[in-house]
Amino acid sequence: MNVKENVIISLQQGLDAELTYAQIEQLLEVPKSSALGDYAFPTFILAKTWHRAPQQIAQELVTKIDGTAFEKVVATGAYVNFFLNKPAFAAATLTTILAEGTAYGDSDQGQQANIPIDMSSPNIAKPMSMGHLRSTVIGNSLAKIYHKLGYQPIKINYLGDWGTQFGKLIVAYHKWGSEAEIKADPIGNLLKYYVHFHEEALKDPELDDEGRAWFKKLEDGDPEATHLWEWFRGLSLAEFKKIYDRLGIDFDSFNGEAYYNDKMDPVVADLQQKGLLQESQGAQIVDLTAEGLTPALIKRSDGATLYITRDLAAAIDRYQKYHFAKSLYVVGAEQTEHFKQLKAVLKQMGYDWADQIIHVPFGLITKDGKKLSTRKGNVVLLDQVLDEAVSLAQAQIAAKNPELHDAATVAHQVGVGAVIFHDLKNDRLDSFDFNLAEVVRFEGETGPYVQYTNARAQSILRKADFSGDLSTHSLALADPQAWDVVKYLADFPNVIQRAAQGFEPSVIAKYALRLAKAFNKYYANSKILVDDEQLAARLGLVTAVSQVLQLALGLLGVAAPEEM
Ligand code: ARG
Repeated sequence: MNVKENVIISLQQGLDAELTYAQIEQLLEVPKSSALGDYAFPTFILAKTWHRAPQQIAQELVTKIDGTAFEKVVATGAYVNFFLNKPAFAAATLTTILAEGTAYGDSDQGQQANIPIDMSSPNIAKPMSMGHLRSTVIGNSLAKIYHKLGYQPIKINYLGDWGTQFGKLIVAYHKWGSEAEIKADPIGNLLKYYVHFHEEALKDPELDDEGRAWFKKLEDGDPEATHLWEWFRGLSLAEFKKIYDRLGIDFDSFNGEAYYNDKMDPVVADLQQKGLLQESQGAQIVDLTAEGLTPALIKRSDGATLYITRDLAAAIDRYQKYHFAKSLYVVGAEQTEHFKQLKAVLKQMGYDWADQIIHVPFGLITKDGKKLSTRKGNVVLLDQVLDEAVSLAQAQIAAKNPELHDAATVAHQVGVGAVIFHDLKNDRLDSFDFNLAEVVRFEGETGPYVQYTNARAQSILRKADFSGDLSTHSLALADPQAWDVVKYLADFPNVIQRAAQGFEPSVIAKYALRLAKAFNKYYANSKILVDDEQLAARLGLVTAVSQVLQLALGLLGVAAPEEM
């Protein structure tokens, strides 16, 4: 059942097929106020062929439309307005949702095509930043959204485990570090050495050369360099995994930059063979002037490879492994130029699948208006943010619902949910200033508000103690107060499509907020648990709301506790 389809078909018949289905679909509007109907068709486009004023056209068109499936069809100014038959629409919507359950909104359009998603990808020996958190939760949500649409997402954590910074870290460790310190607090102390290195390097630029030299040793397989690198990497990864566990996020691959260390030679050889490499001050570059981009630096004069060299090898490897439909990179907007270069080089190499590479950028998180910087030690520690959020959730639960069963689990779900939802509710390109109090706020447009709405719906259903099978009752809900809720429920499949098309989980988060608000408004103004002939329909509505809120939260990677 698709009401929009019904509206379009009625219009098409009324117009004697003067306009195509797609044309009508494009023109159809949803009026701002439901007092004007549920769909509105503007007639301006017909003025040329009908040789009449749009107002007259609207009036005439109404007489030609078969309105029996609707509550009414009326002309208002230049528009033909459709009012849906509400009880019938509600019945159809609720019946569908209850019958489909968790499959509501599923589609097989993806045909199981692979979509690798490059996400999270923090840098070894540094704390995971807020930027990496954004990449993690956006990537995770996109994976869930695409999975629902029948694609096969592959979550890849492309760890930043290679590069000059490891040379610097080795130098810093030799000069100022100790094994005992690192064992006590791996990331904290590795970060301390790294920050110290940069302070010292400002005074003594030769340190940078030493760092580069140690990285070169690492690339060449020097045993001491390799041993230290493995040690740092293992410790960092263990810390990262603790955060992923708390977030409830896992990965299909941890092939990071280092994995490509021995896979770059063939790529460089291929570039050479295709005549794309040029020498510039001893370095090897690919010229991208034609694309309006700065040159891609493939090899430094000392022979060391770069970030883009590894990304080229990784992109090719992913295509060979997955023959992807799309290959997503959820990485901050500050790397936009890098991904343009990556695509441009792949194109020059003759790979037409380069067009399927999509950089999904997101905005910057600042703190007190300033950019966060690992080097300057100006970082927000994710573990602390999560701890704080969970303890606030704990305090709220203790105050509001001290009897709650398994309060610790719920506090975890609510606190972590608040952090994830906060990150996902804004358009991903919007930048925002990090404010802990804001992140862990539970009132207003927040994850806990949506979770709480679902828990409230669950509690109504427990109280109702309705033993019958709702699907055998008429769900033709006549209450006009419920109308907004029903319309949002029916819109969910479109919402998922929009989120997927725009690579934009915020579409789902905003939808969940709208649905929760509409339901709470309905709940405040109606008595649900009255034993009359509409009881089943109302309970059907509550069940459907709870199901769809759970699905929406699920697509965001946020838990939906039954009680809180
Ligand atoms: N580790 C990088 C950083 O922190 C992000 C990696 C993004 N993915 C990629 N394929 N380049 O900036």
